[in-house]
Amino acid sequence: MCGIVGYVGNPSVQPEHDALEVVLEGLRRLEYRGYDSAGVAVYADGQIAARKKAGKVAALEAEIERSPLPASQLGIGHTRWATHGAPSDVNSHPHVVAGGKLAVVHNGIIENFVELRTELQAKGYTFISETDTEVAATLLADTLEGEAAGNLSKAMQMTCQRLEGAFTILAISVDAPDRIVAARLNSPLVIGVGEGEMFLGSDVSGFIDYTKQAVEMDNGQIVTITAEGYDIVTFDGEPAQGKEFTIEWDAAAAKKDGFNSFMEKEIHDQPAAIRDTLMGRFDENGKLTLDELHIDESILRSVDKIIVIACGTAAYAGQVARYAIEHWCRIPTEVELAHEFRYRDPIVNEKTLVVALSQSGETMDTLMAVRHAREQGAKVIAICNTYGSSIPREADACLYTHAGPEISVASTKAFLAQITATYLLGLYLAQLRGNMFADEIHSVIAELQKIPEKVQDVIDNKAQVEQLSRDMVDAKSVLFLGRHVGFPVALEGALKLKEIAYLHAEGFAAGELKHGPIALIEEGQPVFVIVPSPRGRDSLHAKVVSNIQEIRARGAITIVIAEEGDDAVEQFANHVIRIPQSPTLMQPLLATVPLQIFACGVATEKGYDVDQPRNLAKSVTVE
Ligand code: G6P
Repeated sequence: MCGIVGYVGNPSVQPEHDALEVVLEGLRRLEYRGYDSAGVAVYADGQIAARKKAGKVAALEAEIERSPLPASQLGIGHTRWATHGAPSDVNSHPHVVAGGKLAVVHNGIIENFVELRTELQAKGYTFISETDTEVAATLLADTLEGEAAGNLSKAMQMTCQRLEGAFTILAISVDAPDRIVAARLNSPLVIGVGEGEMFLGSDVSGFIDYTKQAVEMDNGQIVTITAEGYDIVTFDGEPAQGKEFTIEWDAAAAKKDGFNSFMEKEIHDQPAAIRDTLMGRFDENGKLTLDELHIDESILRSVDKIIVIACGTAAYAGQVARYAIEHWCRIPTEVELAHEFRYRDPIVNEKTLVVALSQSGETMDTLMAVRHAREQGAKVIAICNTYGSSIPREADACLYTHAGPEISVASTKAFLAQITATYLLGLYLAQLRGNMFADEIHSVIAELQKIPEKVQDVIDNKAQVEQLSRDMVDAKSVLFLGRHVGFPVALEGALKLKEIAYLHAEGFAAGELKHGPIALIEEGQPVFVIVPSPRGRDSLHAKVVSNIQEIRARGAITIVIAEEGDDAVEQFANHVIRIPQSPTLMQPLLATVPLQIFACGVATEKGYDVDQPRNLAKSVTVE
């Protein structure tokens, strides 16, 4: 996930606005989207001038101070969250190609860039970065000089028809110095309409300081902006209409994309986080191609034990993963808190595969456990959200989650992305070791691909959960029950409430209820129950429904999370929160979401700082 800004102004209408200043302001506001590197390109005096720098926007500003850019009315900018290629200066955007005549910034992943690069190399082009963006820029330049005969919009149309994946691309050319041409496919882009000036942004915060008038455009469209207006066409060149709207947010709120908190925003990011984590990791037959796992296949085939290590929310993702990995791969799998693993003399050898889960990649306990495991001869695969952080650097290989930067301390979208990535790893091992037939893997992949839309459905029904959080704001304690994969979901639901609402909360395995926790139940005690699918295995559903009856009979207020169509729960529940039907192993990706919304709602209602809860840090870099 990256942030993109574009500006074009007419100096006689807006003499005060300089492209560089407008673009830098937009980048500062979009920095939450990524801060691995930043760059700008402006057009002035017949030339494109660019500056780019690894690190935050502040590093770019320092670079521009050292090496100033000319005054200009046309510019593009980018703040990067690295996916392809390390966050170095050379991999930063803009990518300037065609001997300095064309500059491009890009957000997204171009899946077929290797194939396109080979094709362009055969034509004699060379590449200086490792990025998919440089390939797209070169293809655009080649098309512009060739078939498109100097028409930038036409060249963009033809280029987009060749690109696969998700992308927003902005381009400026010395041959069309009055305009920016931008394309969008499954990556965000909004147009800002000013007086004698026009803007582009990944979201409206990219230009909120300058205008409240904006235009939405659809996927598969290309817009050309000049100081006077905008013109949208489809990738096929057909004229298209954008949807104009007035921005309601004030400039400060826009940093959170219009949400009250980053946590709320990140809950809403979850469909994209799962989709992006799945993207590019299997072919159309569902065959997994995890090229980033540079570990000898014979070593992965000989693994006889898996230990998942992590802390906090990531450890609960590991607990979910265990059910899937053991089921699919038939490899004994343990899940352990990294700090416990490190100091208990665990049995680890060269046949052990350690999987380290970490959003930040910087959690010291997990990093220490990675070092310890490698010293004992184990291979370590990191599953991480932050490119180039310590844990992936020290692991033997890393499978990145593509959840985008997670700013709120309480983890939400990283959790769902971690489950998604561990599932990909489990399926990959099963494929490699022959534990599953190709069509079985394909059908699991097909189910995973349906999840983003189902998560969106859960989010769309948030009003009911938000009402519950208002009703329960005075609760002294909330309990969570779950069974099988619902158990770690219960633990995560309780953790969210502790972290941000400072409310006593406990998660229990539903089967354990009668062995102790049921003693806590008294009149009015709220209990969330995650109900397994009635179509699932081993009559788990019936057992959990019995648990609901048992606690209800003792006065609990039961809030039941159950599949659509599961009527058996109705008579025992005070509240039923519906989630779409899905196979058992997919359920955590859906059932967690109302619990996140609930915790966020309670904390908001109590007036707490949802994103920066007391005593906690996003990444714990001390042991
Ligand atoms: C801290 C955060 C949690 C997070 C945990 C692990 O405790 O507050 O939200 O789950 O660290 O972080 P990691 O970056 O390793 O996933």
